[in-house]
Amino acid sequence: MRQNSDCAVELPGDSPTANENGTGSSRRGFLARLAAVSAGLTVAPSLLRSAGASEEKISKSGPSGSDNSKGLTEISLKVNGHTEHLHVDTRVTLLDALRDRLALPGTKKGCDQGQCGACTVHLDGRRVLSCLTLAVMAQGKEVTTIEGLANGDQLHPVQAAFIECDGFQCGYCTPGQIMSAVACIAEGHTNSDDEIRQYMSGNLCRCGAYPNIVDAIKMAASKA
Ligand code: FES
Ligand code: FES
Repeated sequence: MRQNSDCAVELPGDSPTANENGTGSSRRGFLARLAAVSAGLTVAPSLLRSAGASEEKISKSGPSGSDNSKGLTEISLKVNGHTEHLHVDTRVTLLDALRDRLALPGTKKGCDQGQCGACTVHLDGRRVLSCLTLAVMAQGKEVTTIEGLANGDQLHPVQAAFIECDGFQCGYCTPGQIMSAVACIAEGHTNSDDEIRQYMSGNLCRCGAYPNIVDAIKMAASKA
């Protein structure tokens, strides 16, 4: 069981005698003061992210939008061939910009820490983890998401191969797997099952569909 260190430490505010004026103070009050002090020193990335959830950090508007008053930065992103203008907090990830502002939920948020590969997209044809990429860093590059792979009604060969080979079960990891697989084939890392597994090792599948994913990649590579 995960240990919460907060639970193991007796906080000054837990004890009524800890208050200088003798009236006692609450644990909540202590934590509020601690947060106020900490905010001036350093903020962990995870706290930044959780703070972002409660603030309006991204807005979509035209180039003449008025969000500068909120400390937002105007950026342009070229996503799946379309140029989009956004006003974002500079801390916003490409993943959140795609999902929350550009209505492209195909790119999945798994760990949000660069460990699962569910958020894989392409930047100028190279696979990147969008949860570790700031939206501002994607400016001037071609962003491709799973929504941009198919050609109209015609699936990308890797998408078709995943269906043909049952390369998924719940499907949550699948967009990231497919984006990585497209890059893996383009990189030429499909010479053996082991090589495919090695170059797909950044994409985790909780359903354990790995054998079928390898089959799908081999099938698509053979037709490339
Ligand atoms: S959500 Fe980006 S690596 Fe897991
Ligand atoms: S198909 Fe379910 S996590 Fe991969």
